[in-house]
Amino acid sequence: MERFPNPIYVASPLLPSLDDIQGELTEIWGTKWLTNMGVKHRQLEACLKNELKVQNVSIFNNGAIALLTALKALDLPIGSEVITTPFTFAATPHCISWNNLKPVFCDIEPDTLTIDAHRIKNLITPNTSAILPVHVYGFPCNVDEIQKIAEEYSLKVVFDGAHVFSTEIDGRGIGTFGDITMFSFHATKLYNTAEGGCLTYGDDGLVDKIYNLRNFGIRNEEKVADIGINGKMNEIQAAIGLLNLKLFREEQTKRMAVRARYYENLDRVAGIRIPRLRTDVTDSCQYLPIVIENSFPVTRNALYNILKKYNVFARKYFYPLCSDYEPYKALPSSSRENLPVANDLKNKVLCLPFYGSLELQEVDIICKIIAENV
Ligand SMILES: Cc1ncc(COP(=O)(O)O)c(C=O)c1O
Repeated sequence: MERFPNPIYVASPLLPSLDDIQGELTEIWGTKWLTNMGVKHRQLEACLKNELKVQNVSIFNNGAIALLTALKALDLPIGSEVITTPFTFAATPHCISWNNLKPVFCDIEPDTLTIDAHRIKNLITPNTSAILPVHVYGFPCNVDEIQKIAEEYSLKVVFDGAHVFSTEIDGRGIGTFGDITMFSFHATKLYNTAEGGCLTYGDDGLVDKIYNLRNFGIRNEEKVADIGINGKMNEIQAAIGLLNLKLFREEQTKRMAVRARYYENLDRVAGIRIPRLRTDVTDSCQYLPIVIENSFPVTRNALYNILKKYNVFARKYFYPLCSDYEPYKALPSSSRENLPVANDLKNKVLCLPFYGSLELQEVDIICKIIAENV
């Protein structure tokens, strides 16, 4: 089989046309208002509120700062424990640590690869203040069970929803679950503002708090009300966001066709398992993870290298686990005994190239490499 002439990466950003960007930039240049909650910023917050079907939206310069702010806004006791998943991007535990809180890792479910809600209770101590689950790859967590536990033990819940833009469960926006949800608008995400993110939340009492934390605590020229940082999204990011809001549904539809083609090809390949969504969920189409089971002729790492030889750059998301990172590996909850499923799957999951402009013939070739070149 021929090597692809150009590299095929795991993601490709959704880009508005240069003409449309030019139009937006002309408007922004006209106002000479580049940041600090300008017109585009206000428009984008209003549009996202409808799109995500949520009560409140605060947009940020990136998802990590948004998540950092979410934990800060809840005033969790310093040094308290936050139960989270090791099967996620570095930002999740790092935002806990930057708030002077302690991450406690909980194992994951083998099917959805999200936090195993039934194992959360065992990790709760008198020092636990919150749960930070991640809707990983676009698969929603067991939100009902997590909510039940949170209510029983009076814990806050912050969802890392970096991967679930536009996801709904039974018609309900995923950003309405828990106390706060963070969405990332990074370039690799289905919906992007180059860099960016937002928080969604139901409690109107958090609006001012989050506004202050995002803008140095500044309320007006003479009043600084809180110890805030700079989490503001600028007007150029917001303009990209407004344009991409008109485009992401079409991108999603194309991704569904790409995904269907992957399923059609790979369902026939023994030893490859494809985690599937629940039927009551409309998802973001963020990533396309496959699980390379022990019965497959080669390991995940070997398959990753084979694909690379053909110029296909799949990603070992999430390897290593966050619990294997230097700052966390000595934590009691990072032990392999506590995280058997995550430790097994960290060596088996591979995210395949997945974006709307990926040709179906290219999908066929990638699948052929997987099926035949081992
Ligand atoms: C699960 C998860 N959480 C948090 C983030 C951080 O978001 P951002 O890159 O927008 O800061 C990401 C990444 O991109 C992510 O994948």
